[in-house]
Amino acid sequence: MEPDVIALEDITVTYRSGFLGGTAFDALRGVSLRVKAGETVGLVGESGSGKTTLGRVCLGLLPPTQGQMRFGGAPFGKLRQRRGQLSVVLQHPEWALNPRLRCGTSVQEPLVLTGMPSSERRERVAEILGQVGLDPSFAARLPGQLSGGQRQRIAIARALVTNPRFIVFDEAVSALDVSVQAQVLNLIRDLQKRHGFGALFISHDLAATRYVSHRIAVMLRGEIVEDGPSARFYGTPEHPYSRALLGAA
Ligand SMILES: Nc1ncnc2c1ncn2[C@@H]1O[C@H](COP(=O)(O)OP(=O)(O)OP(=O)(O)O)[C@@H](O)[C@H]1O
Ligand SMILES: [Mg+2]
Repeated sequence: MEPDVIALEDITVTYRSGFLGGTAFDALRGVSLRVKAGETVGLVGESGSGKTTLGRVCLGLLPPTQGQMRFGGAPFGKLRQRRGQLSVVLQHPEWALNPRLRCGTSVQEPLVLTGMPSSERRERVAEILGQVGLDPSFAARLPGQLSGGQRQRIAIARALVTNPRFIVFDEAVSALDVSVQAQVLNLIRDLQKRHGFGALFISHDLAATRYVSHRIAVMLRGEIVEDGPSARFYGTPEHPYSRALLGAA
């Protein structure tokens, strides 16, 4: 059987803030989550419920206070071993793209860390730009010379260039207008069919989430209160909070 790309078991994250770390706050409380290759799990829930925190844990950017994590069926291990295998696409591509760097440079940056020779990198950049629907000439442009949708395509190209096994999309289409949103959602689906990565799709937009997700996990105050097939969540949600979310949409 296909192992989970990411498996989190009973994860707790405690943020400490205030003078001398005096105040402790559990942003995640006993969260378990599994994502398989080729599968997208939609993560929904109100603002502050812990979605981004969970995404950061999956990426290895935030060590959990408690709990176990596995990547590709093995213990999570060192960052170096996961290089190029985990990626993120954020709401504002401006945050992922250096405004002074040509798009081609930004897209190939993750490949430099993998030690790929520069001639191969150039070829790979042209290939991935084609896959996100951009002409290779976009490599020479600066982010400021692109539309919002084109910038998000560049950010997706950068996230995909190393062929990662797992991608977190954190409000990745939220800043885009509706027609561009639809294009980017289709792109995400097509790229997943082609590359087979597992994905966590974090969003406030239940319609967008439905369009790309095989499964839905619902977060409420740091806990996952419902996790199941998309059709069940949108058809006959079990948890009262899920029904409230759907009712409000
Ligand atoms: N570095 C931090 N230190 C202290 N508290 C934090 C930190 N980062 C996040 N939090 C708190 O943890 C909780 C969860 O935050 P998180 O960003 O994961 O929520 P979210 O579900 O992504 O919200 P949104 O939908 O608004 O993006 C919030 O109450 C937030 O204030
Ligand atoms: Mg968030």
